[in-house]
Amino acid sequence: MKVLLTGGTGYIGSHTAVVLSQLGHEVVLYDNLSNSRDAVLKTLAKITGRHFPLVRGDVRDTELLRNALASYGIDTVIHFAGLKAVGESVVKPIDYYANNVQGTISLLQAMQAQQVKTLVFSSSATVYGQPQYLPLDENHPTGATNPYGRSKLHIEEMLSDAASSDADWRIASLRYFNPVGAHESGLIGENPNGAPSNLMPYIAQVAAGQRSELRIFGNDYPTPDGTGVRDYIHVMDLAEGHAAALKFLNQASGWHAINLGTGKGCSVLEMVCAFKKASNRQVPYRVDTRRIGDVAACYANPTKAAELLNWKAKRTVDEMCASTWQFQQTVEIE
Ligand code: NAD
Ligand code: UD1
Repeated sequence: MKVLLTGGTGYIGSHTAVVLSQLGHEVVLYDNLSNSRDAVLKTLAKITGRHFPLVRGDVRDTELLRNALASYGIDTVIHFAGLKAVGESVVKPIDYYANNVQGTISLLQAMQAQQVKTLVFSSSATVYGQPQYLPLDENHPTGATNPYGRSKLHIEEMLSDAASSDADWRIASLRYFNPVGAHESGLIGENPNGAPSNLMPYIAQVAAGQRSELRIFGNDYPTPDGTGVRDYIHVMDLAEGHAAALKFLNQASGWHAINLGTGKGCSVLEMVCAFKKASNRQVPYRVDTRRIGDVAACYANPTKAAELLNWKAKRTVDEMCASTWQFQQTVEIE
């Protein structure tokens, strides 16, 4: 297949590019580099031995997108491009709706104009809002507690409406749980600008001595050790989930919401412990108050992905920590 990855130079996009290209797909990247660098192209070539074309542009530039779809003969799009920081979305909601919602409208218009109607969308477990039961299956009611989450929900609704209006659309909304880890080469991974707001990159920087200690946001949750429980999924498993979704969409039309998670919860303290083991470093921490908006526990029921995509996450928390640590050391050398 000829696949356009919007946001393809970012964290999840770059790992997916590796997996798809190794499966023989032709991959073209489209990115405005607002949260990534074109240096990743060289790294991708080093890992795969292949050259990835990059169209540098914004997804809101419908004409540029249309030209990219036409000139590369694209038949499928994976839409990663968007803004993703929950806290920032509360401060800059208009930017989030413009990038995420308007960006997706522009993409759908370009795709419709070019008669490209197969789409995989990067959704998030955030669309479930406050969990009413666990594990979260795809029939759990949706809701959002911040503009980032609402932008994902609005997009899902648009995608579902588009698919209802025209049976040619084949759309998968992949609801990611907590993506972490890095490619086994240690050459690509997650390298956030400024202080990380997510747990795994923060722990990695503490282990590396770049930050003095981790703040654990609450140890009085109704969980086995009192700290927050999440469903961490290795980014390479996630990337393989996208390849499986492309295969599925070959024989399925309509709109499909599918969880990508492991189904297993891991607490903050368990993650600290696993990271210490993987890095052989200390991870000093102090317990702080709960972070506003956090839930006690969140993990997937991954049955639908197993049934529809014939895909299961297989990498362990230890592998997530080991690959994160390997990448962290590469970043330090840079
Ligand atoms: P990322 O920031 O590393 O990658 C996103 C890429 O999109 C970046 O390269 C950025 O430059 C590009 N981009 C942003 N706005 C754009 C625009 N208007 N036009 C063109 N390019 C644009 O993020 P990621 O972690 O790889 O996330 C990819 C997708 O997955 C996002 O949509 C995100 O919301 C979703 N997601 C991520 C997580 C996570 O924890 N990483 C969890 C759930 C869902
Ligand atoms: C965050 C996003 C969510 C997104 C998800 C996946 C928020 C509020 N939510 O969720 O929308 O879908 O990432 O990427 O940002 N923790 C600490 N100390 C830290 C950082 C985190 O104790 O310095 C704890 C948190 O309280 C939580 C766990 O670690 O219990 C995981 O946090 P984080 O990595 O931010 O992910 P989520 O909160 O699940």
